[in-house]
Amino acid sequence: MTTAIIGTGKIGSIIAQDLADAGEDLIIAGSDLEKAASLAAAVGGSARAAEVPAAIAAADIVILAVWFDVSKKLIDENRDALDGKIVVDPSNPLGPDGNGGYVKILAPEESSGQILAQKLPAGASLVKAFGTLGAESMKVSARQDPAIALLYTTDDGAAGEAVASLIRSAGFAPVNVGGLDQSVRIEVYGELHEIGGLGRTVTAEEARAAL
Ligand SMILES: NC(=O)c1ccc[n+]([C@@H]2O[C@H](COP(=O)([O-])OP(=O)(O)OC[C@H]3O[C@@H](n4cnc5c(N)ncnc54)[C@H](OP(=O)(O)O)[C@@H]3O)[C@@H](O)[C@H]2O)c1
Repeated sequence: MTTAIIGTGKIGSIIAQDLADAGEDLIIAGSDLEKAASLAAAVGGSARAAEVPAAIAAADIVILAVWFDVSKKLIDENRDALDGKIVVDPSNPLGPDGNGGYVKILAPEESSGQILAQKLPAGASLVKAFGTLGAESMKVSARQDPAIALLYTTDDGAAGEAVASLIRSAGFAPVNVGGLDQSVRIEVYGELHEIGGLGRTVTAEEARAAL
């Protein structure tokens, strides 16, 4: 399985390092090929850089490690190439609140996962994953004993299994919360997200007890 990570920022670089450490086959892309190449060199292993369309074309799993609005744009720009792919959405729909903080930019009952899933071509499957911890926690939580949970939702069981395997590779315990209609519970401020919900990292057993 080849995984493309689109986005070289906080979350993209943490996921890239965790997956490279496990020997996963990785292609890294972003807004700038040089930044992608420098992250690929930094994480090591088989990681290599490509432009976004080439990265998507070569990947089985595409992780959109970019902000929600950028994900929408990238899906529009790469619709055909995304057909048949497993698309991972870690996004939390946040924007500036005008006072130095953040506010949810969707209605309380809406999730970015469901909105992005509706934009994808029919042959693509979205898995909402890799977004349930803040970057600071995620950076120090891989390969703990017991493993820290990363929660996910999807309507496609096979795609969910493939992403669960990637979550394990990254050094976390995958916990399936259900279909995409449950995504709002694992996005920021949802009751199962670290921020505004659980308030801390949890093990898989603790996460399942909270479902
Ligand atoms: N930070 C967290 O604690 C956290 C936790 C969980 C989930 N998330 C989610 O993860 C996603 C990324 O967050 P982040 O904190 O990693 O943000 P970030 O550090 O700002 O990184 C965003 C990345 O997107 C890239 N980008 C922007 N426009 C692009 C385009 N058109 N094509 C390709 N790449 C583009 C940026 O490239 P440039 O820098 O070159 O513009 C940057 O590498 C967000 O949806 C966020 O909600 C974040």
